[in-house]
Amino acid sequence: MTRVIAITGKGGTGKTAITTLLIKYLQNSNNTTLAVDADPDTNLPETLGSEDERTVGDVREFMLNERDNLPPDSNKESILESKLFEVINEMSGYDLLVMGRPEGPGCYCYINNLLRGILDRLIENYDLAILDTAAGLEHFSRKLIHDIDDLIVVTDGSRRGLRTAERIRDLVDELETKVSNVYVIANKVNESNKETLEKTAKELGLELIGTVPQDEEIAEMDLTGSPLFEISDNSAAFNEMKKIAARLKI
Ligand SMILES: Nc1ncnc2c1ncn2[C@@H]1O[C@H](COP(=O)(O)OP(=O)(O)OP(=O)(O)O)[C@@H](O)[C@H]1O
Ligand SMILES: [Mg+2]
Repeated sequence: MTRVIAITGKGGTGKTAITTLLIKYLQNSNNTTLAVDADPDTNLPETLGSEDERTVGDVREFMLNERDNLPPDSNKESILESKLFEVINEMSGYDLLVMGRPEGPGCYCYINNLLRGILDRLIENYDLAILDTAAGLEHFSRKLIHDIDDLIVVTDGSRRGLRTAERIRDLVDELETKVSNVYVIANKVNESNKETLEKTAKELGLELIGTVPQDEEIAEMDLTGSPLFEISDNSAAFNEMKKIAARLKI
């Protein structure tokens, strides 16, 4: 069984950074991992250091444009499947799949239905699938991908941030996507407010599985445009990710 972990939270809280640190951690594990960039804004390849620009969106467009030109007896599902395999980027220690832009105008129902089935089967080939998602929960429909085992809500280290995480947790039950566990990671945290944060999370009944510090190395890498994936193994942020992975039992 594949374990599907999705990272969510408000804009700019650090979803892509947390996903990147988790993928870095998993690179050397015994698990086979699929990293999925499910944000149409597509930031994950950059932080992982991939220059591959192929996306699932391209496959969808290709199929929409070509399907009337294909021989009538051709198996569209297997064509779509082989095209999808072409956009999987084999990185060192994991695979990367970028969803890319959402559909434009046009009738995509048929293609989306096929794609959903193919993506579900694809994910089953891995021990772990890690999804970086766009801010908000609106896109968490069956249209996206698979049910989710662990939803990780990334928030900043403020009380307001935790309140937002609380709201997200409470919304989860209304989603079309099935979610088994909800965890919270507070990011860009200062040591001085860590204790208060943990106390507040407890009061709100949130399962806080990590507090990732504001890390100057991340800020600097961001400025110089270096992929976050290359952060040092003993950086404060990556050290916390090792603890988070242990708490998640991965
Ligand atoms: N722990 C950290 N320490 C320092 N800087 C951080 C940390 N985490 C994230 N950042 C920085 O904060 C900014 C936002 O991070 P990131 O892009 O991961 O957020 P996001 O939630 O994915 O944003 P979006 O909603 O746009 O997808 C980036 O400039 C990133 O380098
Ligand atoms: Mg992001």
